[in-house]
Amino acid sequence: MTPDLSAVPLCLLADIPDGGAVEAEALVQGEVESLLVYRHGDEARAYLNVCPHAGRRLDYAPGRFLVRNGTIICAAHGATFAADSGDCTQGPCRGDRLRAVPVAVVGGVVRLAAEKPLSGT
Ligand code: FES
Repeated sequence: MTPDLSAVPLCLLADIPDGGAVEAEALVQGEVESLLVYRHGDEARAYLNVCPHAGRRLDYAPGRFLVRNGTIICAAHGATFAADSGDCTQGPCRGDRLRAVPVAVVGGVVRLAAEKPLSGT
């Protein structure tokens, strides 16, 4: 039986510093994936923890991300992404984007939204 992924909690919004990001793991399209979960005020965005440049993880240590002034910086070669959109604005994969995973904040909990094809593919 397929689990109801729409109910899967990832983390508490309060556990993410505003303007920062944490790691969460979730089943996405049948695979356990590491996700970067970014907070902007009362909203959250999630992306696969995979850089489109060379497929490396974005974090410099497990679950530790370089996030500053609304940008996410890949620890491998410095590609810079707009945190709200996932668009690469600078670096070796400029014009590409992070693969977004739909999430929703419900009652202070960041949850996977209804599963649908990932954007940016
Ligand atoms: S793998 Fe991210 S910039 Fe190269």
